Amino acid sequence: MPTSNATPVAPAWTIPGYLEAHDGRLFVEGADSLALAREYGSPLFVFSEPRIRSNVERLKRAAREVERPVRFFYASKANSNMAVLAAVREAGIDIEVNSGGELFKALRAGFRPDQIVFNGTSKTEQEIDEAISAGIFSINIDSVYEIELIESRARTLGKRARVALRLVPEIGTRSHLGLQTALQTSKFGITSTEVLGAFRRALLHPELLHVCGIHIHVGSQTPDVEPFAEAFATMWGHLKTIYDESGHVLEHINLGGGIPVNYLRDRTQADQLPAHEREMLGAELEPSDVLTAALRAARESARGADVEHLFDQVTVLLEPGRSVIADAGVLLTTVRNIKQRPETGDVWLLTDAGFNLALSMSTYKWYYQLVSASRAEAAHDSDYKLAGPLCDSGDVYFDIERGGRLPDYRRLPAGVRPGEVLALLNTGAYTIAQMFPYNGRPLPAVVMVREGGRADLVRRRDTYEDLLTGDIW
Ligand SMILES: Cc1ncc(COP(=O)(O)O)c(C=O)c1O
Repeated sequence: MPTSNATPVAPAWTIPGYLEAHDGRLFVEGADSLALAREYGSPLFVFSEPRIRSNVERLKRAAREVERPVRFFYASKANSNMAVLAAVREAGIDIEVNSGGELFKALRAGFRPDQIVFNGTSKTEQEIDEAISAGIFSINIDSVYEIELIESRARTLGKRARVALRLVPEIGTRSHLGLQTALQTSKFGITSTEVLGAFRRALLHPELLHVCGIHIHVGSQTPDVEPFAEAFATMWGHLKTIYDESGHVLEHINLGGGIPVNYLRDRTQADQLPAHEREMLGAELEPSDVLTAALRAARESARGADVEHLFDQVTVLLEPGRSVIADAGVLLTTVRNIKQRPETGDVWLLTDAGFNLALSMSTYKWYYQLVSASRAEAAHDSDYKLAGPLCDSGDVYFDIERGGRLPDYRRLPAGVRPGEVLALLNTGAYTIAQMFPYNGRPLPAVVMVREGGRADLVRRRDTYEDLLTGDIW
């Protein structure tokens, strides 16, 4: 029989050196996913530390391409596992937190106070006190009411607080409505009609509030540069007006997070998604494009004008979350049950990973590509209905509401049987940060694979005893 010397084509979802398919199975940074699932149990989250570093490096490269200094504050809500925070810190960027708990974790992970910004709509006095006492880089004020609250806490503590004002200037994006945060219908920020009054109020007691910046987060998974550019231009406009009015110079413009991740690197099932979902989930936007477009929007109006010196003093802040961590994680899950439905001919695979581990699958019908880790190189050409283990009809990998936002079937190799290990890709962001032990299902372990393939346990699997934590009876 003639033999072919042609190198087999790697599946399109692979990422050379990181996510690979060989010897019939899935490898993460050279670590055998099946061996990891055997050792640490299934379901299991597996992260790559080198991938986190290379995602951070991509951001830093983008910063080097633009004319103003840029600081990145990793949005820890995306994933605040302590080993992830350590990897992000060691990769050399700063951190954004959204609660006293995230502030506590950031400090415990070794971030200095001047590396921390604090967002949030409902900060408690205790959280504000903790942030002021720690002396963090910026507390981002979410309302006119909060200006007075933070000022009064600063007075009580006898300490000056560094603050920025968060705006909600009515800028839409092509992401899910629930992920858009610069619309008037969003709960965040100070509106355009309030903003100048808010700055005037915040500047009244400079001994208590050091107003250092201005902030917008247009939303998560934003597929186009235009909303970033519009947001930046809007903030730049306010920065100039505030200077004209008061002579006060804002030091930074914080453009928030939202740099998208391409969840459809392998386009195999992309045609089964509605066009707008496809464009949003498959967005390919370079951080350098975001920064360039944003700065251009302000640069043009600054050039040659008497405000050029203001532009030359601005530091740009970004708060990337998913673009740092989403594609650095995979969720391994095992098929536990199978059923053939005679009426429809469907084959159902019931896994051990439900929406309690990847909540966006349920809230936003988020598409995470599914591949076989046990047969990573096999053709994925058979259709299955997929569902998780929870006692909830919505715990399925398709759109149970028939909104068509997810493919009805997932494509896997022919003949999947219970025991086969599958992998949900790009599950590093907004997954373990949101997981919960519904149905008395102990939360899974998390491992971090280091350069060279060494896997470290960075979260142990819960025990049944952990299910009792906090209960009093
Ligand atoms: C204020 C703020 N900054 C940053 C982020 C991170 O967004 P992303 O993970 O899309 O980069 C979020 C996410 O919701 C946010 O609310």
